[in-house]
Amino acid sequence: MRVEGDGLGERRLYAGRLSIRRRHLFALGLATGAGLVLGSRRLVSAQTAVADPEPDPEAEEGEERGTVTVGTPAPGQGSLTVYSGQHPEFTETIAAAFAEATGIAIQIRTAEDPELANQIIAEGASSPADVFIAANSPALMRLSEQGLLAPVSAEILSQVPARYNPPAGDWVGVAARATVLVYAPSLLPETALPKSLLDLAKPEWQGKVGIAPAESDFLPVVTAVIELEGEDVARAWAEGLARNATIYLGNTPILRAVEAGQLATGVINHYYWFRMAAEVGEAEMRSKLHYFGHKDPGALVNVSGAGVLTSSPYPELAQQFLAFLVSEPGQEALVNSNTFEYPLRSDVAPAPGLKPLAELDPPDLGPGDLGDNQQAIELLLDVGLL
Ligand SMILES: [Fe+2]
Repeated sequence: MRVEGDGLGERRLYAGRLSIRRRHLFALGLATGAGLVLGSRRLVSAQTAVADPEPDPEAEEGEERGTVTVGTPAPGQGSLTVYSGQHPEFTETIAAAFAEATGIAIQIRTAEDPELANQIIAEGASSPADVFIAANSPALMRLSEQGLLAPVSAEILSQVPARYNPPAGDWVGVAARATVLVYAPSLLPETALPKSLLDLAKPEWQGKVGIAPAESDFLPVVTAVIELEGEDVARAWAEGLARNATIYLGNTPILRAVEAGQLATGVINHYYWFRMAAEVGEAEMRSKLHYFGHKDPGALVNVSGAGVLTSSPYPELAQQFLAFLVSEPGQEALVNSNTFEYPLRSDVAPAPGLKPLAELDPPDLGPGDLGDNQQAIELLLDVGLL
């Protein structure tokens, strides 16, 4: 296993491994009192130079993190506070469309999924958040397990296919994101592409694959392997990956390395490639995407969703916002945000150029099967990938 930087220098990776590891676990939602799954023995004995002091958030470089207000709060008119783990332009574009349609201003706090879930749990009944938008379902499932999410009406849930909603019906799916393998044709001919994500654990892939194991995008893929193949196969796969993989801070550094011909393949979400292609022009892209399909764990489709907090003093406004997220105008705004995620409504077309959602042939795993990332984190810690 090798550890790569993000272009900002390697120093962050190797300085103070223990404190990095603590911060890393914190970011994953593990080092918070009741949420701590591991004893201190493991915390202090771990020597894996994997941890990322600032795991790559959905908010990538150049994107604003922090709090922004969308719309103008009007006297006597309500406003909402949204905590969002999504890319800022995703949330802000949709919030702007909502504010324009309703006159309701929205305060958006952007950070990573686990950080926001931790914050909501810590804030409890006094949380200022009315709505939580998670980039990936596990953070919402964690809040659901804690009883912090209010039921969503059947009318809202029925706007998107049921498989994208949680079993408890306490949040709603908003967007889909496909797991893909990005590869450099200059280093790897198409005929040599792996048939399955599981192949990447084989010896011939040593040094040829990049992963971002701390990403909230990657952890559900690990859960998918556990769910589909069982714990023993998943452990052997993770051990192989620990031997073979180069560790990156996030999807974008993986994509950049493949683009630069420094790395043969990497596991990322589809939209990072399309966003870069939109920036530089598709003809300039040297990397290509490989879709595993065939219900392979590497073809996992993750769901981004939104829920209303039980603590919200504005439950009706908050539910109105959820209804907008899955409405035709809301899903159109999602497509217009140029984040290249898939809308979930069948009557709203995704951005041109995306492989149709219906052709991805993902494994049949919904948010309920993928759970809260806990099993995946424990496995990756065990094999030294976290
Ligand atoms: Fe992402």
